[in-house]
Amino acid sequence: MTDSWQECMNHCVDVTKQAGKIVREALEKDIAVMEKSSPTDLVTETDQRVEKLIISAIREKYPTHCFIGEESVAAGAPSVLSDGPTWIIDPIDGTTNFVHRFPFVSVSIGFTVNKEVEFGIVYSCMEDKMYTARRGKGAFCNGLPIKVSGQEDITKSLVLTEMGLKKDPEHFKTVMDNIQKILNVPVHGVRCPGSAAVNMCLVACGAADAYYHQGIYCWDMAGGAALVTEAGGVIVDITGGPFDLMSRRLIVASSPRVAQRIAQELTVFPCGRDDAG
Ligand code: IPD
Repeated sequence: MTDSWQECMNHCVDVTKQAGKIVREALEKDIAVMEKSSPTDLVTETDQRVEKLIISAIREKYPTHCFIGEESVAAGAPSVLSDGPTWIIDPIDGTTNFVHRFPFVSVSIGFTVNKEVEFGIVYSCMEDKMYTARRGKGAFCNGLPIKVSGQEDITKSLVLTEMGLKKDPEHFKTVMDNIQKILNVPVHGVRCPGSAAVNMCLVACGAADAYYHQGIYCWDMAGGAALVTEAGGVIVDITGGPFDLMSRRLIVASSPRVAQRIAQELTVFPCGRDDAG
């Protein structure tokens, strides 16, 4: 029997390659930067152009499918996850990195059916790494299988996070306190690479042992979520409970033990939901 989602995935890889080429070419030119909700929330003409290209190339082939895209939502489109086939798109994950040419910049696409991620594609543009994962079929980087480190000991772990949510001073303080708590466990180190999707791929290929974040969006998480689980890792809510793609928070880790140990340390703060309207 034909696996129709595999056909979608093959198309997605082709479209992501085209999108990645545009991002790489844009890095060679002047980058005009615009602000969205705040001086640290950036967008460029390339984010918008790449999202339009991705959506039109997919819609042409799959006209009945649904889309949630970072720039479409910023322009007023709804962010609601239905049971139908849905493409969740971040045209440039790591826009600040892109603006500064800091080398972790990705195109990230996750595809869900019945609200479950069927496959995820993350192309790390400057590293030229194409990460792909199909549910039940493993995770790959440039066609080679990848797997998580399998680390079970938090004190031997390298942990990734981001310092993104700074608008509310109280939340920002919690973000910084949480980093301090994780460092004090102790762990081997904490890093903030600047692209949620790349962070998940770094855990998926064993270069880091965990990543946690409160305040990101479904388009930052959907592609990488498939990579981590298919590489043998775990993905849970920031509380240690079941992961919810629209909850704007997550912990991914090399093992359930490391994920739960991180959850135990973190103070949770309200960061809303993607589908709150
Ligand atoms: C951002 C990146 C960054 C994270 C921010 C995200 P964007 O995505 O994933 O790592 O700290 O919270 O918004 O805006 O560059 O697509």
